[in-house]
Amino acid sequence: MAETLTKAGLAIPLIGLGTWDLDQKKCSRVVSEALDLGYRHIDAAAMYENESQVGAGIIDSKIDREELFLTTKINTISWTPSGGSGPLLQNKSIIQSFEKSLLNLKTDYVDLLLIHWPRFETNLADMLEIMYEIKDSQKAKEIGVANFNSNLLKECVNFGFNDLFCNQIEYHPFLSQSKLLTTMKSLDVIPVAYCPICRGDVAKDDVIINLSDKYNKTPAQIALRWIIQQNAVAIPKTANSDRLKENIDVYDFHIAESDMDKIYNLARNQRLVPNLEPNELVYPWD
Ligand SMILES: NC(=O)c1ccc[n+]([C@@H]2O[C@H](COP(=O)([O-])OP(=O)(O)OC[C@H]3O[C@@H](n4cnc5c(N)ncnc54)[C@H](OP(=O)(O)O)[C@@H]3O)[C@@H](O)[C@H]2O)c1
Repeated sequence: MAETLTKAGLAIPLIGLGTWDLDQKKCSRVVSEALDLGYRHIDAAAMYENESQVGAGIIDSKIDREELFLTTKINTISWTPSGGSGPLLQNKSIIQSFEKSLLNLKTDYVDLLLIHWPRFETNLADMLEIMYEIKDSQKAKEIGVANFNSNLLKECVNFGFNDLFCNQIEYHPFLSQSKLLTTMKSLDVIPVAYCPICRGDVAKDDVIINLSDKYNKTPAQIALRWIIQQNAVAIPKTANSDRLKENIDVYDFHIAESDMDKIYNLARNQRLVPNLEPNELVYPWD
């Protein structure tokens, strides 16, 4: 049974399946297999160009929609893995784009809808207004953001949007997010860690390898457990059946505080996801 974090009555499973880079041919098989293995949280995005295959995998698995926590993200910057960056999505097209996501995902609602990147056609207040319109229509149970820094989170509150469900950010043992995590805690915003195993790099680190021997768990499991023990959610991606099992098998052990500290000490400001258009993005990361 998956462990969860609850906010505003909505429970998000601590481990979700990331779907970025799940190639369209494999994606529905992987999603359906993950759901069969007990995953109940899928992280999708319009930008990943595979929502349709994610939706097919959910249908194939035959699990009840109410049992699943499904996230998707609005792609305001029109960036695609295959086509590069286009013009910013017009505000008037945002709801249309979300409706397309629902159609592709083959569902009437998502549990969580995120702003994928903090860049919009007009301004943050307008963007949040549109997101909350979607929430009012009950097609998204909760609204959150991704890649927001502390100042942007505080701006949301200043605009009166003080109940953001989460902020999805890059977080793994090699990237301290302490300043941002402190802000998120003070604002009661759940941290969702992307790239939680640093795309496999955690398996190359001696400290993590030693802890993996000590706890009889794999390096990926150590990194994931380290994240969820911080009251955060992690969304590792894998297309491999064994690793799907491995990444969700993290609920039966506990990392001692002294070992948690050893992992905190590995931070070296390693970022895997750059600002998409560095010349235009002027906000600092934290
Ligand atoms: N909001 C955002 O801007 C944003 C940005 C980036 C990512 N995300 C989300 O976060 C998810 C996860 O991030 P990510 O996919 O970039 O990185 P990740 O989950 O840290 O790593 C995925 C990579 O690690 C490998 N892997 C998975 N499990 C493993 C294990 N147990 N042992 C060794 N290697 C393993 C995978 O290969 P195999 O498939 O071969 O196993 C894949 O190459 C994405 O899929 C996406 O949903 C969001």
